[in-house]
Amino acid sequence: MAKKEKAVADPHACTLDKIISLCKRRGFVYQASEIYGGQAGAWDYGPLGVDFKRNIQNAWWKEMAQLHDDVVGLDSAIFQHHTTWEASGHVGHFSDPMIDCTECQARHRADKMIEDYVAANPDKAPGKPIDTMSHEEMQDFITTNIDCPVCHSKEHKYTAVREFNLMFKTYQGPVADDSHLIYLRPETCQGIFTDFKSIVQSNRMKVPFGVAQVGKSFRNEIIFKNFIFRTCEFEQMEMEYFCKPGTEDETFDRWRKDRWAFYLKYGIPEKQLKWHHHDKLAHYAKDAYDITYNFPIGFEEIEGIHSRTDFDLSQHQQYSKKDMSYIDQEDGNKKYVPYVIETSAGLNRNFLMFLCEAYEEQNVAKEGEPEDYRTVLHLDPRLAPITVAVLPLMKKDGLAEKAKEIQHLLKEDFVTDYDVSGTIGKRYRRQDEVGTPFCVTIDHDTLDSASPNFNTVTVRFRDSMEQERVKLDELVSFIQKAIKSYKPYVK
Ligand code: GAP
Repeated sequence: MAKKEKAVADPHACTLDKIISLCKRRGFVYQASEIYGGQAGAWDYGPLGVDFKRNIQNAWWKEMAQLHDDVVGLDSAIFQHHTTWEASGHVGHFSDPMIDCTECQARHRADKMIEDYVAANPDKAPGKPIDTMSHEEMQDFITTNIDCPVCHSKEHKYTAVREFNLMFKTYQGPVADDSHLIYLRPETCQGIFTDFKSIVQSNRMKVPFGVAQVGKSFRNEIIFKNFIFRTCEFEQMEMEYFCKPGTEDETFDRWRKDRWAFYLKYGIPEKQLKWHHHDKLAHYAKDAYDITYNFPIGFEEIEGIHSRTDFDLSQHQQYSKKDMSYIDQEDGNKKYVPYVIETSAGLNRNFLMFLCEAYEEQNVAKEGEPEDYRTVLHLDPRLAPITVAVLPLMKKDGLAEKAKEIQHLLKEDFVTDYDVSGTIGKRYRRQDEVGTPFCVTIDHDTLDSASPNFNTVTVRFRDSMEQERVKLDELVSFIQKAIKSYKPYVK
């Protein structure tokens, strides 16, 4: 996503810079090793970021493993036997086209360079999809049209376009020879394929069934920009669904529908999503679509849905010499190598997408009054890093103690925050900015046995800013119901 940010006329629109700044300011994401000038392409997830990321992961896990009876989980190792990556095709084919400027030595991804150029000059597009261009065609196009994005030289002096393998490799143990070569996995799914037989046998799985997995993957990306969108270390949420040959097309359609519906369920409006069909397929694929989201820098991929045929299992069968076929007892003991439909989502890209979609600078001034903007994240309460903030109206008169007691009551069921500093209005704004859907305020009436509001608190809703008085002994179930009945906010 090396495109320039969309031209933003509205000063209150969401931009990537605003998201980066909010993430840093409020503890969602920091630059890794910032005290040493930062590690390019690496990011640390702060106190709010870890909860937010985990909530997205849990939502995905619930959707895939809990709500689908035929999907089970796995957590395979990052280090797999090096032959795994020869069999999968990653040693031979997992590369991006790169080109160097010979004037400043900057290295670029050739396809992305053309993509950026076309985004800025739509009338100068090459006559074919970029992902179908040969190295020579890319080279010609870049040399004819594109100034180096780093040194801006108009000489257009470049090396030839060549392939760059994206896998990180190292050696296990003290001996650095080929027999100790080991790769950091570039995708999580190969562990699912190599464990296929074990899963069938240990859990008596019957085809069709799926295996879900979340974990870190590593790619030696040539370019990493646009914050956490493209990094060298990232997390994938992948599911491999094994089906009978001949049923792969209907299975592919069903998973495409399911994955699309997931994003709507968690508040992404349909108009913000778009399918991208692959013109050029990966070495393993029969068909492939991406779900793309309208980021502030344009529509970009968040998830790939791939029809992988029996490529992976057959390759592992060939390289390991272990039988990867399945005996279908429900079809007269027919023996076959199952076909695979894959759904592969980026957790970090989901993180960025949900933040961008939730972000709003909202004018909350009453009619006739000067503009007054609050920054608010309209996150689904199931994803928000803090679910309930407990706010005593003031520290004194026993309100702080009562608020702590109430926070203790809520902690068992929700992630809570306690905040006593500043005016109540300022505290609401701080919670709005990190997407806390409910603020519970404790005031004098809460403690006053003579008041009709004795033993009640105020619940303030983030999106509407409306408030409701709720009995203390009904507070937990009130918030649980509000989470269940939450309707995505429409901007
Ligand atoms: N197993 C198939 C596979 O890995 P992919 O399209 O290369 O397919 C799937 O990756 C998803 O992983 C992408 O849709 C994206 O969300 C995420 N992803 C891939 N490379 C990434 C990177 N360098 N940084 C962050 N996320 C990445």
